[in-house]
Amino acid sequence: MYQENETLLEVKNLTVEYQAVRGALKAVSGVSFTIHRGEFFGLAGESGCGKSTIAFSIMRLLKGAASVTGGEINFKGKNILSFGNEELRLFRWDRTSMVLQSAMNNLNPVVHIGSQLCDAISAHENIRKKEALEKARQLLKMVNINGDRISAYPHELSGGMRQRVVIAMAMALRPDLIIFDEPTTALDVVVQYNIIRRIMELKKEMGFSIMFITHDLPLMLEVCDRIGIMYAGRMVELSPVEQMKTKAAHPYTRGLLQAFPSLLGEKKRLSGIPGSVPDLITPPAGCLFYPRCKEGSERCGRESPEFRSCGPGQFCACHLRKGAVHG
Ligand SMILES: Nc1ncnc2c1ncn2[C@@H]1O[C@H](COP(=O)(O)OP(=O)(O)O)[C@@H](O)[C@H]1O
Ligand SMILES: [Mg+2]
Repeated sequence: MYQENETLLEVKNLTVEYQAVRGALKAVSGVSFTIHRGEFFGLAGESGCGKSTIAFSIMRLLKGAASVTGGEINFKGKNILSFGNEELRLFRWDRTSMVLQSAMNNLNPVVHIGSQLCDAISAHENIRKKEALEKARQLLKMVNINGDRISAYPHELSGGMRQRVVIAMAMALRPDLIIFDEPTTALDVVVQYNIIRRIMELKKEMGFSIMFITHDLPLMLEVCDRIGIMYAGRMVELSPVEQMKTKAAHPYTRGLLQAFPSLLGEKKRLSGIPGSVPDLITPPAGCLFYPRCKEGSERCGRESPEFRSCGPGQFCACHLRKGAVHG
């Protein structure tokens, strides 16, 4: 279990915009959360809600038309948004690494996986080729791939194995935080389950923190310590997992819990959430979820709700929830 007071990452009031042809699109609006050392933190929400934009902001990998227009991202107390090139290079792999949904397709098809792992290891560490190869073998073992597959080419491995190679790469420099952005969505269910189980074991063995992004909220309830729910660029709920299971605070969270078939959860009738995420260039007034909310009142269409405490360790942005009554 993580130490409650040991903050590894603090995202504070983060706002990120994309310059689109029709105007500025606020992909992330004033989002705040922390990740503790050793914590398994989840970020959920439908497609287009800003989850990947947050991940790319933390990795400082936002490109082109994107810019952080507000907030801070503090990693071990230092604002990484102010990092220069050398600090960034170290931060990216030594401290944090990322596994993307499509990462397995980004392996170089004409270089065997051993070389690719060695490249990742020796790009940041002054290490002899022989040692790097041994390290690469160990990393493969950690993700349950036999060390003698080291000279295999990506096309000789299954999708699940390729994704595990990418996870091995992400662990190569023993980072403090690994961000998984929909790491298994492209894989079949049994393979997904095995990979997630292995990720959990490795986290226990190695003690890194995880930021895990997926739209499968029921799956998250099985694996995370705490979960943040994103809707239309805003964080609408942040809860310890037990509370989210029994007392989800936001109507959107409750909708998500009903909307997706889970990899691990019980089978049940899915109801879905009618409607779609609003246009983020010209968003409506008031609560952005109001047009889809079954419970909203006239005030919700006028006033944007504040993100505030609504229970022990639980925060939500909803007019229908009273303030926190602790104890
Ligand atoms: N490169 C881009 N240019 C313009 N808009 C983008 C770009 N990338 C993402 N967006 C927009 O930003 C919003 C958030 O996207 P994203 O962070 O990818 O969400 P998620 O990961 O939750 O699906 C969406 O409205 C998306 O269309
Ligand atoms: Mg995404």
